[in-house]
Parts: sequence; structure tokens; C-alpha cells
Amino acid sequence: MLIASFTETRKIGMEVARALKAKYTEIFVEDFPDGEYHLALKKNPKNERVVIINSIINEVDNKIIETVLAAGIARDYGAKEVFLVATYFPYMRQDKHFMKYDSLSSKYILKLFSNFDRIIAIDPHLHRIHKMNEASKNAESISTNDLIVDYIKKRFKKDFTILGPDSESAQWVSPIASKLGKKVIVLEKTRLSSTHIKQKKVNEKFSKNVIIIDDIISTGKTLAGALKMAKDQGAKNLICIGIHGVLVNGADKLVSKYSELITTNTIPNKYAKIDVSPIIVKALRKK
Ligand code: R5P
Repeated sequence: MLIASFTETRKIGMEVARALKAKYTEIFVEDFPDGEYHLALKKNPKNERVVIINSIINEVDNKIIETVLAAGIARDYGAKEVFLVATYFPYMRQDKHFMKYDSLSSKYILKLFSNFDRIIAIDPHLHRIHKMNEASKNAESISTNDLIVDYIKKRFKKDFTILGPDSESAQWVSPIASKLGKKVIVLEKTRLSSTHIKQKKVNEKFSKNVIIIDDIISTGKTLAGALKMAKDQGAKNLICIGIHGVLVNGADKLVSKYSELITTNTIPNKYAKIDVSPIIVKALRKK
């Protein structure tokens, strides 16, 4: 097996290669003056199962091109199989036609990855698509739930309530709360635009300590709304855990003003405390 990583996922790639006793290579990316990319692997992929690891966000469209080109190199030079581990898989929030004549992006972006034999995506945004293989037969998702449970168990000893900021979050907050044996509250959210949301008031008793968990923190508006709700209901100590810290437009400042902010390292950022390498290793050991 040859693990091939881009710069942003270098740490994860090296750790996965170490744990699996696999070879490791960096993917060299050169920018041509006209804005095109030229890529190279630093090791021979011939007869290897090549696992390309990328966090496909932050200059997302460039990252898509890099990933597609990297798979092409592996194929052209005789790789036995080509896998993708997307620590962040993009465009999954655009999973329906939201308005007349608009793009159903998740469907067409996934098609761009058809050169991969297997796609493993860490907690992709699954809302109207319930499983990755409904969207593409080679794709599957792996969950960070157990990593988050372990992290919470180690860090937080006092009683707390787990809060999900919208109905989609029930798919992770409910199993996490049940593994921790804690009360869970799930809010109802209406999205008014890509930067505006509204959450319905709840009449629930929150404990003094509240841990809010969301899959993506993008503008931070969803978490800001949930934080306000929790504070209004008497919560004093607030923690926000985001699986993917996309963190645009000062989202981290918005969230960390009222709470401690923690993310996984699917997208490198200074709040990343939960390492996802173990679940990648587990998934790659399966086949
Ligand atoms: C939405 O459906 C997701 O689960 C997240 O709640 C959302 O993407 C967060 O976005 P933002 O941080 O911009 O509110």
C-alpha cells in the first residue's frame, strides 16, 4: 500500500502509513503561470494500492482538480487500485435543487471522482442523501462519533447536556449522547440563506454545562444561534465541537467568544484537537 498525501493532510497521511506499515509519499503540486496545475508523486505507484488523502475544501475547486489528477497519475503508472480518503468531502450540502434551474452540485461533483475504486469520506454532510453509496456505489462514509465520545470522556467529567443545533444533527448527537449516557436536546433550524438561520425556541431544562456538536462549522451562525439558545435556557459553560472546521468569515471568533471551540483535524486549523487518523486506519484495514 502506498499512502499519498497533499501538504495539508501530511500529518494524517504519515500517521496512517506508520500505523499500517505502508509506504508514504508526498504529492508534489506545481502551479503553471497560466493557473494550471502539474502534479507528481515522489514514489512509484506500480502494483500498489494507492490511497490518496486530501481535505477537499479551502480553494475547494482547485483541490478537486488536484485530487482527480493525482488519481490519474496512479492509474497511468500501474497502481493496482486507487482509493481516496477525503477527510472533508465537498459540495455535499448542495444535495437538492434549492431553486428553479439551479445546480444539483453534490451529484455532479461526485461523478468527477469516478476514477477511484473506493472513496472513503469522513462524516460527509448527509442530509437528503442518507448514505454515500446512494450517491455513488464506490463511496462510503466513516464516522468520528467514537473519537468524539472518547475525547469528551477524557476532557469533561462534570454533568452536561449534549445539544444538536438542527434536526440533521440528531444522526450524530443522539448516538454520541447515548454512548455517554447523557441527555440530548436537538433544536429545529430554518435556513433563510447561506449566512442566515433561525432556530425555534425550546422549553427544555439544560444542565449548567452544555456541549454542542455539529458536523460543519462554516460561517458559525448555526452554532451562534444554538449558543444563544443554551445561554437563554440557563447554561453557563459552553463547549462547541465541530467535526469539520471550515471556519469562514471569522466563524471561529464568533463561536469562541461564548464557548470553547474544538474541532477534528479533517481540515487543519488551530482548534483541531481530535485526530482522525485512527478511523482511517481502521477503514483501510477492512479491505
Ligand atoms: C447544516 O445543515 C450543517 O449541518 C451545519 O449546521 C451547517 O453547515 C453550519 O453552517 P454555518 O456554520 O454556516 O451555520
